[in-house]
Amino acid sequence: MGNEWFETVAVAQRRARKRLPKSVYGALVAGSEKGVTARDNVEAFSELGFAPRVAGLPTYREISTTVMGQEISLPVVISPTGVQAVHPDGELAVARAAANRGTAMGLSSFASKPIEDVVAANPKTFFQMYWVGDRDAMAARMERARKAGAAALIATLDWSFAFGRDWGSPHIPERMTLREMIRMAPEGLSRPRWLFEFAKTGRFSDLTVPNLVAPGEVLPTFFGAYGQWQGSAPPSWDDVAWLREQWGGKFMLKGVTRIDDAKRAVDAGVTAISVSNHGGNNLDGTPATIRLLPDIAGAVGDQVEVPMDGGVRRGSDVAKALALGARAVMIGRAYLWGLGAAGQAGVENVLGLIRGGLDAALLGLGHSSTSQLNPEDLVIPPGFTRRLGG
Ligand SMILES: Cc1cc2nc3c(=O)[nH]c(=O)nc-3n(C[C@H](O)[C@H](O)[C@H](O)COP(=O)(O)O)c2cc1C
Repeated sequence: MGNEWFETVAVAQRRARKRLPKSVYGALVAGSEKGVTARDNVEAFSELGFAPRVAGLPTYREISTTVMGQEISLPVVISPTGVQAVHPDGELAVARAAANRGTAMGLSSFASKPIEDVVAANPKTFFQMYWVGDRDAMAARMERARKAGAAALIATLDWSFAFGRDWGSPHIPERMTLREMIRMAPEGLSRPRWLFEFAKTGRFSDLTVPNLVAPGEVLPTFFGAYGQWQGSAPPSWDDVAWLREQWGGKFMLKGVTRIDDAKRAVDAGVTAISVSNHGGNNLDGTPATIRLLPDIAGAVGDQVEVPMDGGVRRGSDVAKALALGARAVMIGRAYLWGLGAAGQAGVENVLGLIRGGLDAALLGLGHSSTSQLNPEDLVIPPGFTRRLGG
């Protein structure tokens, strides 16, 4: 046993499931309502086929690119995900893994590690913000991120506080009190290796979110901050333009699914949009992002960078997304499974196998660079795409 290499993300997921307490694993599965969107994100990739070549294949394939001014060694970026008691090093393990593999890291404003430490581990850190509190609070958070050296800002606005999952939501404690520890003891004791990782550090994750306040202030709890977010007035397009202006640097609007929204984002002056449905955690019934990508990339891809995220589990998925117009993809659960299975090494393992899978797809398709990927490389079934808002 131990942290052996795994060969696919599906294997990493099985290991994470075996290794993590049930509620921690459940928090990573996430999804909302009936899980239609979370499922479609993954399954839509399977509907797309390839049209491979047999000879004249390139000896070397170029897969590096840039996203929001950062050179990355593969077109795969770590998507921001909220505080997770998956591993004691949490986001730091992910940041180190991404740095070792030459890529950028999205850091959630609901992360459990301070941005200063994460940027030190990976200077290619994009700080992600939700619209929590008023403009002054937002400006202070941006100032902290700027001072820490964040390379770009990601504004994520696709959240409607959906709750309830047909398969049941995990119990996540407000604080790791003695009572909670006793309540969760049976789960923890059935996962001794996970427990041991935390025991070595001498403390359990306290589920606080340090990046929502100035350094030195009392750390809000995850649920306290969530309540504040729920009570904040939803942002307008003017607020988006204000955010972009206040930040001043590279700026991504994450969560775009409609063409009219993509155009408004361009008008607001963004650097990039991520075609995203929050990994199926927002409005269940939103189509898979890979179905939405071609029309959005067609509408605004010549004006802003268009990464996508949702359902990417292998290198061939990345090839499909790039063939349909994405500049890069962002991954969520894929690296979370890696983190849950084997910490930093597991995240590196995931990035390594996605790189290998993408390279294999390029070889099979006869391309020497990801920039040559195009829709002709794919078998696209009739009616595959969805065009929203335009
Ligand atoms: C457990 C979990 C937590 C997430 N937390 C955040 C977050 O804090 N901020 C954010 O912008 N997106 C968040 N997301 C969405 C991801 O950034 C990304 O859009 C999504 O996971 C992509 O889908 P995939 O998991 O199928 O790769 C979260 C997703 C998951 C699964």
